[in-house]
Amino acid sequence: MGPDDNVCLCFHVPLGKIRAYIKREDPPVASLISECLGAGTGCGWCVPVLKQLHRQHQAGEPMEVRVDPEIYASGRRSYRKTGERPDETASDGRTSS
Ligand code: FES
Repeated sequence: MGPDDNVCLCFHVPLGKIRAYIKREDPPVASLISECLGAGTGCGWCVPVLKQLHRQHQAGEPMEVRVDPEIYASGRRSYRKTGERPDETASDGRTSS
């Protein structure tokens, strides 16, 4: 996923904006990332990814999302229908393979 790809598809919040927010604000808890354009406050699909980015930042690691944007978006469609996360996307947003 690149900086222009949306992490929060409900509110169209791209990875680059979320990274900048986390670097600038250094939020103590991942839930505060919702202050960045409402990220994570819609369907909830992106919440594990927001938590992952927060964890990476806290650990001093690069904030990366290793999932293809198409797979991520189609996972959300299925999540919204079934309420379950598809097998190919782990809870931290990374692909399992
Ligand atoms: S994709 Fe972020 S809340 Fe729905």
